[in-house]
Amino acid sequence: MRVPSRKSGHFDVDLETNLGSLKLDNPVMTAAGTSGHGAELSAFFDLSKLGAVVVKSLAAYPFPGNPGPRLLPLPGSMLNSVGLAGPGVVAWEKDYLPRLRQSGAKTIVSIWGKTVEEYAEASELLKGHLDGIVAIEVNISCPNLKAKSEIFSHSPQATRSVIEVVRSIGIPIFAKLSPNTHLMAEVAEAAVEAGACGVTMINTVLGMSIDPLTASLELGGGGGGLSGPAIRPIALRAVYELKRRMPEIVIIGVGGISSGQDALAMMLAGASAVQVGTATFSDPKAPLRVLGELVELCARLGISRPSDVVGYAPRGMKITSGFETLSDAKAENR
Ligand SMILES: Cc1cc2nc3c(=O)[nH]c(=O)nc-3n(C[C@H](O)[C@H](O)[C@H](O)COP(=O)(O)O)c2cc1C
Repeated sequence: MRVPSRKSGHFDVDLETNLGSLKLDNPVMTAAGTSGHGAELSAFFDLSKLGAVVVKSLAAYPFPGNPGPRLLPLPGSMLNSVGLAGPGVVAWEKDYLPRLRQSGAKTIVSIWGKTVEEYAEASELLKGHLDGIVAIEVNISCPNLKAKSEIFSHSPQATRSVIEVVRSIGIPIFAKLSPNTHLMAEVAEAAVEAGACGVTMINTVLGMSIDPLTASLELGGGGGGLSGPAIRPIALRAVYELKRRMPEIVIIGVGGISSGQDALAMMLAGASAVQVGTATFSDPKAPLRVLGELVELCARLGISRPSDVVGYAPRGMKITSGFETLSDAKAENR
């Protein structure tokens, strides 16, 4: 992508993004569950401009989700207890996939299940309908199910079992990880060993809210998942630590990203691509805006290939002039 530059008139930023065997035009995606089931955001911008569109997690069957209230805005964050409401794979293929195909979006389908067999069933139902679908994101980390034992990504063995039954789908798969466990690295290792192309991290952080005046729980589901800017440091650290432990792993970073600077920081921590979630609720164009800001920032810093700086921070490489320029830019803005 060519962007104007003060010094030379223009600067080329090569956004090509390699996520293992999945190649994308750029590293910015939507996050599952925050931009609808299909092409809803195409009312605001051209979805084909994003690296990929990740749809709300689908089960093999329609699922009602949790009772309301499901969303609670909080300072710098949001709590949700949507609970994986969705039409199920078969209705989704009929009612949502055609518009996604028309939009030219590269679609990543997120799937979930309550048992290993249900994950297998959801992925089986997708076989034969993969035109326009570039990857599967396996949501093994939703915090909004009744039994917390259903969070597969709190156990390396359970994670392995799920990935093993999904991998026969024949397109790249990514395991969506939970930040609510001390076993995140072991779980990531198990996912990759079982055949995942990479991991997406992080899902929401377990939380809840109580109204002190009525002594009632404020979300219909009881507890919920925290998202938005407040969890960005948690996501950044999770990505940073995993990349340091497993330098070869492919990570898609998600959690509180709402600007190009947030995206670049996540890539420096070790993410090869990023997803924009809660920011989309206040600004439906947020994923495209983040992409534009990332490109402008790279041009300003002299970064011609953002993929070159992935994991730059953990590898502790020598600071180059690009980053000195960043300090200059900060000083200029003061
Ligand atoms: C309302 C809502 C619904 C979500 N639904 C899903 C989902 O269906 N599947 C999933 O893997 N993650 C889901 N997530 C988690 C997001 O994809 C993302 O991991 C998380 O919100 C952190 O990113 P953010 O701070 O940019 O929102 C949901 C998040 C929100 C706020």
